[in-house]
Amino acid sequence: MHLISLKDWTREEILDVVERSIEIKRFPNKFENLMRGRSLALLFQKTSTRTRCAGEVGMSQLGGHAFFLDWGVTNFVLTDFQDEIRVLSAYVDVILARLLKHADVIRAAEVSSVPIINGCCDRYHPTQILADLMTIQEKLGRIEGVKLTYVGIHNNVCNSLIAAGMKVGMEITIVAPMTNPAAADEALLAEACRTGLCRSSECLSEAIAESDVVYTDTWVDMEFFGNPEFEDEKQRRIELMQPYQLNNAIMEGHNALVMHCLPAHRGYEISGNLIADPRSIMFDQSENRLYGMKALFAEVMRRNGAE
Ligand code: CP
Ligand code: NVA
Repeated sequence: MHLISLKDWTREEILDVVERSIEIKRFPNKFENLMRGRSLALLFQKTSTRTRCAGEVGMSQLGGHAFFLDWGVTNFVLTDFQDEIRVLSAYVDVILARLLKHADVIRAAEVSSVPIINGCCDRYHPTQILADLMTIQEKLGRIEGVKLTYVGIHNNVCNSLIAAGMKVGMEITIVAPMTNPAAADEALLAEACRTGLCRSSECLSEAIAESDVVYTDTWVDMEFFGNPEFEDEKQRRIELMQPYQLNNAIMEGHNALVMHCLPAHRGYEISGNLIADPRSIMFDQSENRLYGMKALFAEVMRRNGAE
């Protein structure tokens, strides 16, 4: 009933949402009453543009109602987390939660009487990857057999790419000299490697040469960006990761599509001119967050026996 990480979703469930997303994009009017009378709470501990807007707008375009709860102005700040989730779930039909810690996403799912959708924690970012698969399907006409290189810090986005990628038959190469400590999921990585669909590489140029898609993400997750205590680590990462920047030089002579979940940090993980390059499909990805979110609402409600 919940969407926590995509690890427990089947290939069919993932591909159904991708297919439905494409259908919703093409025929929006067909779905305008799908969520009539339904309410969505967006509970966010972290900043967001895409996930929040796709959730709020998506729900309203489906005929439902959505409201944003900024963590800091709720009573989540002063009482028991699970009590408050239990209360919130009595008012609404779905909760889209962007929580700092993965453990809290699990704790929310334990007590919620309605589906919890993980809107990006420190370990996984499943709603992003559903929209990314949709974008790959649109651009390449297939997902199975697509060769994707993820370059950057091994983080929440990388984990969800691996979790979904191995189910849908994508070949993923990871070029990541370091892992965010909170994102370390050795069991997931080992399982993905066992399928033969996932491998690590130290050579970015070789990986790009063999790829249909190259994907990168921020070297520092959003919650640490303005944190003075993280400043030294941020500088260390900038030095360590500079050779792994995606730019026109490393992409020269290659036709691979370039993906980024956004927000991007120009001049760090990616150059500004590559963002504007015709190979870049990141604004398609971000637009597709809307259709992905709508298809996801339909899916969790269906699984919850409401459709
Ligand atoms: N890609 C993504 O999740 O963006 P936001 O942080 O703006 O929601
Ligand atoms: N890894 C990034 C993804 C943002 C959408 C972060 O967590 O900040």
